[in-house]
Amino acid sequence: SNLHPTIFVIFGGTGDLNKRKLAPALYNLYTEGYMPEKYSIIGTGRTSFTDKKYQEEILNSVNQFSRNGKVKKEQWAEFEPNVHYCSVDISEEKTFENLKKEIEKYQKEFEEKTQVVFYLAVAPNFFPLIAECLKKYKLTEDEDNCRIVIEKPFGHDLETAKELNQLLSRIFTEKQIYRIDHYLGKETVQNMMAFRFANSLFEPLWNRNHIEHVQISVTEQLGVGDRGGYYEGAGALRDMIQNHLLQLLCLVGMETPINYDADEIRHRKVEVLKAMRPFKPEEISTNAVRGQYSKGWVEGKEVPSYRTEKGVDKNSNTETFAAVKFFIDNWRWQGVPFYLRTGKRLNQTSSIITIQFKDVPHHIFSAGATETWTQNRLIISIQPEMSIRLQVQAKRPGLKMVLNPVDMVFDYKGTYDTDTPEAYETLLLDVMNGDQTLFMRGDQVEAAWELVMPIINTWESKKSLNFPNYPADSWGPEEAEALIARDGFHWFTLP
Ligand code: BG6
Repeated sequence: SNLHPTIFVIFGGTGDLNKRKLAPALYNLYTEGYMPEKYSIIGTGRTSFTDKKYQEEILNSVNQFSRNGKVKKEQWAEFEPNVHYCSVDISEEKTFENLKKEIEKYQKEFEEKTQVVFYLAVAPNFFPLIAECLKKYKLTEDEDNCRIVIEKPFGHDLETAKELNQLLSRIFTEKQIYRIDHYLGKETVQNMMAFRFANSLFEPLWNRNHIEHVQISVTEQLGVGDRGGYYEGAGALRDMIQNHLLQLLCLVGMETPINYDADEIRHRKVEVLKAMRPFKPEEISTNAVRGQYSKGWVEGKEVPSYRTEKGVDKNSNTETFAAVKFFIDNWRWQGVPFYLRTGKRLNQTSSIITIQFKDVPHHIFSAGATETWTQNRLIISIQPEMSIRLQVQAKRPGLKMVLNPVDMVFDYKGTYDTDTPEAYETLLLDVMNGDQTLFMRGDQVEAAWELVMPIINTWESKKSLNFPNYPADSWGPEEAEALIARDGFHWFTLP
């Protein structure tokens, strides 16, 4: 590709994210011809490794986690010499000198306009330290060619998110800061923009006059696994709703941007967050539901309750499930509820957005003809099934007038025979290209925190008395069904 030479520095170079996501993504970008002609990937960490040993580690990671399976020998041989290791102990500032030397070495070898990307794939308490050290060692001064990528969680609450934004903005311009929300890199999530704004069919219907309600449901079968230490201080609201689900909501709710420009799009998204109705403390119990899983059986195996997972308090008050009913106070969405739910150890792994349209204004068919009557429904399935289906009523073939709902389906598998890239491939390439469209702007992150803070504060101040309140392999707590049933609806799942 014709990208400038790039030096990719990964803090957390021996960590899980690099193993599972970053290293395989960079390797796949290389095999598909997207890496710059000259590049250098520098993993950093406290442990000392030789380049050779580190290359072996990375090879293992790629072999284990790449969507393309094991590497091809000749391709790996070409990629490998670009992988390096530099030991940097974040708590020992002086070790940044090693990094500086290493970077300068490749800068000299490459050319003047070498880009440097710093990827912070470490625990969030290290973000400030690393940013400060980069500044101190004058590694951030070339505004056009230096970028920083920040993994989630971006802040623990509104206040800490603001602090982090302020700190970063003392060191970097907003153009240099890439806040990751990996959901935005997913193929089907990117397609939301195409679906809404490259078709004339849906926009006229995309508002309160035709849409009855919207559901965004991201359910997972896995439990917290070995991430209990992190999750215990987070919970479903912070871990998923504040970022991923609200970003999906923005894509459904946003106004039409005038072009496909990063800031134009991010303006339109932040407007949605700003228009969302804030909760008063007394409204939280009727609009938000929390849950925590108890033990249960998954595919014939017993799985532990959240409170007995590694790193979790045995009286934990942390929610592993959250459902919230939101409203967007603007002309387009006035009165249309947006139901969001997410949780771990649920019965299905599936991320879907459902747009439920209003009923026909007058029924002409007899009750007998319409036993299975459903309103028109658009289901956008993000994963694992990648599809968009429009549910419509049709006449069932036969001599009688009997209606039943059928699906008009756009299914990725049946439509395309190319593989879809991993979110991280898209996002890393965008960073190298300097394209911020799919990254969170500082004000977006803060607006999302602002919205969820009242719920977080209420939940933290009031212990949930009925935890654990849903068994593994269920659909979550009964209150989540009640939340939506009160309005006459129910949660949709894929057929
Ligand atoms: C992460 C959360 O951001 O997203 C995890 O921290 C969650 O708890 C994950 O499991 C879900 O991502 P995906 O891509 O598997 O849907």
